[in-house]
Amino acid sequence: MSGPMASGSCIVFSSYFHYIFFATLLYPMAVAGLGGSWSLLHPTIGISAMHMQLLPSNRVIIYERTDIGASKISLPDGKCREDKYDYTLKKDCTAHSIEYHVASNSIRPLMVLTDVWCSSGALMADGSLVQSGGFNDGDHVVRVFNNSCIKCDWEEIQSGLIQRRWYATNHILPDGRQIVIGGRGQFNYEFYPKTVTSEKTYSLPFLGQTNDANSENNLYPFVFLNPDGHLFVFANNHAILLDYSRNQVLRRYPEIPGGDPRNYPSTGSAVLLQLVVVNGNVALMEVLICGGAPKGAFINAQNGKFDGALNTCGRIKISDQDPRWLMETMPLGRVMGDMLLLPNGDVLIINGGSKGTAGWEYGRNPVLNPVIYRHDKPINSRFEVQNPSTIPRMYHSTAILLPDGRVLVGGSNPHKFYSFTNVLFPTELSLEAFSPSYLDPNSSGSRPKIISPATQTKIRYWEQMTVRFIVQNKVDPHSVAVTLVAPSFNTHSFSMNQRLLVLDGGNTVKEVGKSMYEVNTVAPPSGNIAPAGYYMLFVVHQEVPSEGIWLVIQ
Ligand SMILES: *[C@@H]1O[C@H](CO)[C@@H](O)[C@H](O)[C@H]1NC(C)=O
Ligand SMILES: *[C@@H]1O[C@H](CO)[C@@H](O)[C@H](O)[C@H]1NC(C)=O
Repeated sequence: MSGPMASGSCIVFSSYFHYIFFATLLYPMAVAGLGGSWSLLHPTIGISAMHMQLLPSNRVIIYERTDIGASKISLPDGKCREDKYDYTLKKDCTAHSIEYHVASNSIRPLMVLTDVWCSSGALMADGSLVQSGGFNDGDHVVRVFNNSCIKCDWEEIQSGLIQRRWYATNHILPDGRQIVIGGRGQFNYEFYPKTVTSEKTYSLPFLGQTNDANSENNLYPFVFLNPDGHLFVFANNHAILLDYSRNQVLRRYPEIPGGDPRNYPSTGSAVLLQLVVVNGNVALMEVLICGGAPKGAFINAQNGKFDGALNTCGRIKISDQDPRWLMETMPLGRVMGDMLLLPNGDVLIINGGSKGTAGWEYGRNPVLNPVIYRHDKPINSRFEVQNPSTIPRMYHSTAILLPDGRVLVGGSNPHKFYSFTNVLFPTELSLEAFSPSYLDPNSSGSRPKIISPATQTKIRYWEQMTVRFIVQNKVDPHSVAVTLVAPSFNTHSFSMNQRLLVLDGGNTVKEVGKSMYEVNTVAPPSGNIAPAGYYMLFVVHQEVPSEGIWLVIQ
């Protein structure tokens, strides 16, 4: 009797061993997942999604570097781009930008004339994407993509910027303009458009002070518009509150504990946690910064030593008199992760690796499992590891929230050119979607469906708004919230302009028919709390969001 049992368990043991062995080999950081699911939308979109922005016309504008050679998608109608400054191809008949139609899952190639590599941008109040800077012939250019035009291409404004901007961060301001902050070698900021044509750049010595010799570690600074109208700017391991209109630093926050850098190339990510509006006020502003790479990691990576990524997050109440960092430990260390606000206020941490840094060839050990951070749970029970993807998303990968609650994930080109073979991480042209567990079929009974207002409804500050929705299950009136999410510009692990508001009035739910409910909300009170423009509006019930509709704040 003991013979067969012994050999049986030996077989079990050895196949388990093989499974672990190969799983470890292929996916070093894959951990048994809990929630969420993945789907491959396109094995290839022809380009590597380095930068992404959702437009209110439910198209996603995607672009990459223009001088890495021929992409895998041709420009339409036999068009070619001739560029004497292009380092690789002086004549290129392929596209380096596309638009992705969410509803039809289809693609249209776009022409971009100058190099948009490592640029920045934001959606303007009219829904157009205004993107700025880049590399080489593109570093002073501003480009506009018109949301209202179905067949349009990029329009380029030469000398739209005063300074060259490469790895800068943009944010939309209450007056409708964008601020463009920093960039390589630029310890200053400027605005687009300029109020007067003579408007200059404004010096920001903080960016020089946080610039590490030989590794910088302060590019793509994390910038958030504080509801007091000033800007929170985090670079490397320090943060300030900036009155940009008077060019004054109003406060300096304590160094993040440990002092390790969190910005490019020690790339972590950051979000402004949900802003809860009560009687026209937001009382609490909290920033969460997660991951990055330890001091010296960039130099080490250049010498072939790949340090473990940071597994800590720092959370700080930027509105406190005496703000302190609360440090928390993630289940997985991560560099080059993206942090996204989900419609229910949870934070999704996705993409990246667990060793090395950002930059060409410097990342190792992809982290395939996203993690959800539930900001309102007790400390030490906030992180939940999610099911893994199978596709590494290393340097130059992206993620954005879609109106249907999915997260669009693309990109990863850790090489100077397209490299598909004989490399650790091939250039990735695929597009995937991650569906958080609120999209599981067994959540459908709780999921609201918005009946009114209609999408693209315009509203003024402070205006009352009744939101009508249906839910199959009996609604728990204490578990309803109406949230607004700004569509953010994502590149290099940071989502510029990311913002989530919980509107006042979520507790006024009343039943108005069979499975039909109404809630009386109020539009945000000011441009400091919500700059004018397009937001996705969601009704959230028991943590499960509806599909979003577009609301236009005027
Ligand atoms: C955007 O496109 C629409 C539709 O073609 C057009 O009416 C509008 O003038 C354009 N906007 C700008 C700023 O060019
Ligand atoms: C929904 O189904 C998933 C598996 O598909 C399961 O993990 C989860 O616990 C279920 N949720 C509920 C609320 O029943």
